[in-house]
Amino acid sequence: MERIAWFFLLQYCCCMAATCVTMAAHVQTNISIDQSALLAFKASITDDPHKLIFTNWSTIVPVCNWVGVTCAARHHRVAVLNLSYFGLTGTIPPELGNLSFLVELRLRNNSFHGTLPQELASLHRLRLISLGYNKFMGTIPSWFGSLSKLQTFNLYGNQFSGSIPATILNLSALQVIDLTYNQLSGNIPREIGNITMLKEIYLDSNKFTEIPNEIGSLDQLEILFVQLNALKGSIPMVVFNMSSLTMLALYGNNLNGSLPDNICQHLPSIQDLTLGYNQFDGPLPSKLWECKELLQLEVPRNSFSGEIPNTFGNLTQIQTIDLGLNYLTGPIPHQIGHLPNLEILNLGGNNFNEVIPSLIFNMSTIAVISLFDNQLSGNLPPNTGLGLPNLQRFYLGGNKLSGAIPKSLSNASNLEVIDLGSNLLFGVIPSTLCTLTKLQLLQLFDNNLTVSTSTPELDVLFCLANLRNLRRLDFSVNPLDANLPISFTNTSLQ
Ligand SMILES: *[C@@H]1O[C@H](CO)[C@@H](O)[C@H](O)[C@H]1NC(C)=O
Ligand SMILES: *[C@@H]1O[C@H](CO)[C@@H](O)[C@H](O)[C@H]1NC(C)=O
Ligand SMILES: *[C@@H]1O[C@H](CO)[C@@H](O)[C@H](O)[C@H]1NC(C)=O
Ligand SMILES: *[C@@H]1O[C@H](CO)[C@@H](O)[C@H](O)[C@H]1NC(C)=O
Ligand SMILES: *[C@@H]1O[C@H](CO)[C@@H](O)[C@H](O)[C@H]1NC(C)=O
Ligand SMILES: *[C@@H]1O[C@H](CO)[C@@H](O)[C@H](O)[C@H]1NC(C)=O
Ligand SMILES: *[C@@H]1O[C@H](CO)[C@@H](O)[C@H](O)[C@H]1NC(C)=O
Ligand SMILES: *[C@@H]1O[C@H](CO)[C@@H](O)[C@H](O)[C@H]1NC(C)=O
Ligand SMILES: *[C@@H]1O[C@H](CO)[C@@H](O)[C@H](O)[C@H]1NC(C)=O
Ligand SMILES: *[C@@H]1O[C@H](CO)[C@@H](O)[C@H](O)[C@H]1NC(C)=O
Ligand SMILES: *[C@@H]1O[C@H](CO)[C@@H](O)[C@H](O)[C@H]1NC(C)=O
Ligand SMILES: *[C@@H]1O[C@H](CO)[C@@H](O)[C@H](O)[C@H]1NC(C)=O
Repeated sequence: MERIAWFFLLQYCCCMAATCVTMAAHVQTNISIDQSALLAFKASITDDPHKLIFTNWSTIVPVCNWVGVTCAARHHRVAVLNLSYFGLTGTIPPELGNLSFLVELRLRNNSFHGTLPQELASLHRLRLISLGYNKFMGTIPSWFGSLSKLQTFNLYGNQFSGSIPATILNLSALQVIDLTYNQLSGNIPREIGNITMLKEIYLDSNKFTEIPNEIGSLDQLEILFVQLNALKGSIPMVVFNMSSLTMLALYGNNLNGSLPDNICQHLPSIQDLTLGYNQFDGPLPSKLWECKELLQLEVPRNSFSGEIPNTFGNLTQIQTIDLGLNYLTGPIPHQIGHLPNLEILNLGGNNFNEVIPSLIFNMSTIAVISLFDNQLSGNLPPNTGLGLPNLQRFYLGGNKLSGAIPKSLSNASNLEVIDLGSNLLFGVIPSTLCTLTKLQLLQLFDNNLTVSTSTPELDVLFCLANLRNLRRLDFSVNPLDANLPISFTNTSLQ
């Protein structure tokens, strides 16, 4: 009570007494500190290709009108410094620590180098620091821990090395941390579990070896990216207990073990699950369908085995299923053909067998069908192509498909890639393929395909070879007609 009253009295007094006004002005409106800090910064810039700073930051113009500078209405002091994409080369001088009203420091996509001066620790109002895509090096300074209001911490795309300092636990307001593309190593500090406001963690392309169990305390975490690192062992089970997670991306590590069958029980919001290029094994979780929001399931190049559970058909939101390069077997469940939003289906490089469910050839949303290198048999259904308006890439090479290539395939007019190589296809190559003007790659090698010698079929290879976007055309190891020009019997353009 007493203090509040005193505060109001002081404010009142400031408006009345001349000395108070002077004091307030001194504290609140003296921009010359900011000006000298920025002039010191200007002096430390060695290259300014667009002459933005060199010409614009001049003492005859008020600091608040300098390019890249924004002052707060309240204090008339520099609140935002945004020199992103200016193409500047230089270092950060200690004077920058004098911008004591700075709230945002944005320097991304320049060529600043050297280390970060400790004086920046006094920028205690700072909420955002973005130094992404520069050439800073050294360890991440521990004094970052004193920027207690920091909400966004972006150091991606530099050459920071060493480990993340444990003092980051002081950053209790932190919501986003992005340290992608550095050379950081060691364990992710356990203290990260104390930053309970964290929503997004991006640590891709470093050399981290372990995710600590403490990460499980981050009950607001939505995004966890630790791709292309050196994580080993199994994923800490707590990660599957973070009900706020929407994206979990651990692609390109040395993680092993199997995925818990009830993986989704405590991940009700997960949308992207990206676990490719690891050493996971065992079956695919049979209850994956419980992840009702799942949009992307990407687990290629692991050692998953067993069959695809039929319940995958209940992943009604899903857009990408990438199970390529595993040891999966059995038939492709026809339920997959019912998925109303599927855009990418990659099951290539497994041991799937039996006939491809015809529903797969009738998915209006699908852009990529990749089933190469399996044991799939049967014919392509007669109307293939009629129900595939968005199909761009069609990889069926390396199977046991027989029968003819349906003429109707040309109705999939967005096709860019057709790979039917190394199958048991026979019959005539349909000339209708010549209408696929977007075609870039056509692989028909190692089949039993022919061209009819009667016109207009004779022209099929000529017209295909003349397709404007075609980069590669391969008919080798087919018993093509002996009268054909030799260049077409083993044609590889480019
Ligand atoms: C502003 O600060 C500078 C340096 O701290 C000082 O020299 C100058 O007198 C101050 N100006 C006003 C108007 O307070
Ligand atoms: C400096 O840049 C600002 C913002 O682009 C512009 O409004 C101002 O006219 C420039 N001043 C000078 C002296 O170039
Ligand atoms: C920062 O400046 C760059 C370049 O002028 C601009 O493209 C970008 O939108 C600015 N960012 C913010 C948050 O104002
Ligand atoms: C600004 O910072 C530098 C170095 O950190 C210091 O020497 C100087 O006194 C400061 N200047 C003002 C005007 O506060
Ligand atoms: C920012 O820098 C990165 C890395 O150098 C680069 O890939 C990207 O194209 C740059 N972005 C812009 C808009 O210059
Ligand atoms: C962490 O915060 C405490 C209290 O706010 C402070 O005393 C300490 O200096 C901070 N540590 C670092 C490394 O900034
Ligand atoms: C960090 O969290 C742990 C519990 O996970 C707690 O015991 C510890 O006191 C916390 N440390 C700080 C500095 O808040
Ligand atoms: C998983 O990886 C860890 C660490 O690399 C290793 O010690 C363990 O034997 C591996 N487990 C399996 C089942 O391969
Ligand atoms: C997951 O969370 C539940 C409650 O939220 C807790 O009982 C359980 O122990 C947690 N499991 C793990 C592996 O952390
Ligand atoms: C999956 O969907 C089918 C209908 O497509 C429905 O009959 C079945 O009950 C669903 N299964 C689960 C486990 O939700
Ligand atoms: C696709 O479905 C339509 C009717 O819904 C059917 O007439 C057509 O034969 C189907 N095409 C294929 C390739 O299964
Ligand atoms: C190739 O196809 C023709 C029919 O077009 C058939 O007579 C012949 O037996 C097939 N050859 C092989 C090796 O399958």
